[in-house]
Amino acid sequence: MKTTSQIVDRNLPRHAHCDSGLWINPEQDHSWRKAAASCTTFKLFSQHYGAFLFHQQAGADVDFAAFPDEVERAYSWIILNLPRQKALLHMLLDCAAGLLSADGQIWLAGENKAGIKSADKVLTTHFASVRKLDNARHCTLYEAKLPVQRRPFSALAHQAKWLLNDHGTEIRVVSYPGVFAHGRLDDGTALLLDTLGAMNVGGDILDFGCGAGVIGTCIAAKNKHARVTFLDASALALQACTDTLAANHLSGTVIASDGLAEVSHSYDMVISNPPIHAGVKTDNRLSLRLLEAVHEHIRPGGKLILVANRHLPYENWLAQNFSQLEELAANNAFKVIAAKK
Ligand SMILES: C[S@@+](CC[C@H](N)C(=O)[O-])C[C@H]1O[C@@H](n2cnc3c(N)ncnc32)[C@H](O)[C@@H]1O
Repeated sequence: MKTTSQIVDRNLPRHAHCDSGLWINPEQDHSWRKAAASCTTFKLFSQHYGAFLFHQQAGADVDFAAFPDEVERAYSWIILNLPRQKALLHMLLDCAAGLLSADGQIWLAGENKAGIKSADKVLTTHFASVRKLDNARHCTLYEAKLPVQRRPFSALAHQAKWLLNDHGTEIRVVSYPGVFAHGRLDDGTALLLDTLGAMNVGGDILDFGCGAGVIGTCIAAKNKHARVTFLDASALALQACTDTLAANHLSGTVIASDGLAEVSHSYDMVISNPPIHAGVKTDNRLSLRLLEAVHEHIRPGGKLILVANRHLPYENWLAQNFSQLEELAANNAFKVIAAKK
């Protein structure tokens, strides 16, 4: 059992049996079963597709979406695992406050190194009653009651919209807290877009780890013959990407997948600014694991185009799976590599 789950688990005796419980973004373990036993009905909600599948396979009543469905019910107990970004915590607390019954309570659990110790300041902006329940195993657990404002949750209030000029083509980007490079263009993505600007891109394209859909939307807006599929494991990213496409009056296929597990097609080109953060460390093992099967989904003669931190050695791995490698662009921080099948 993960440490954040352990601090919830050891405090379960404090919790009286209640009508309905919800656990938002629980760890991938089985700790929810004991929590569920103290509620008449208990639901899990995950914004990560891999975690959603894990809990679904374990038999949990679990939803995968950008936001919990607020019309469904009022919960008397909501457990929330601390997200890394403060803006995402504000959004999830705003959402949870709208889902809570009048006498309900929220438990917020997280690791000290993830910033849980200062989360009480955030909690007090949303709830009139906040107290620390426990502090153990490098984790802290808070309880919060009495939402300061009782209002239906509005995702729009947290949405960011910004304009991107990609070589003269204006793109509207929509994103939410928790989505990669929320409200701005990442420097690696910028180098990739600069490189793609000089290329003729067409056919079936997969934007792997699409985030708010910046890369694929730029391709679709400028290349009438490109059919773009957008893939991400984050429900918030997929919502942002769907909204980005709509804001630009474009269409595309948007799929939820943990790595390439849900991909059955082959593509002429897979383009990615791949995820490299497993926890706090930056390395390329996560992206290599996620991209492990990518060459199977590229048609003969097709290409994988990646932007990567300049110091990360992707080339050795790519050379084992692709016939030809080319560095298309580089600056002080990033490089863009094309690998031909
Ligand atoms: C570096 S970001 C790039 C986002 C976007 N393409 C851009 O350039 O702004 C990597 C993306 O990979 C997604 N990701 C992380 N783990 C994933 C996984 N297991 N399967 C699919 N996508 C994943 C993240 O949610 C994130 O949106």
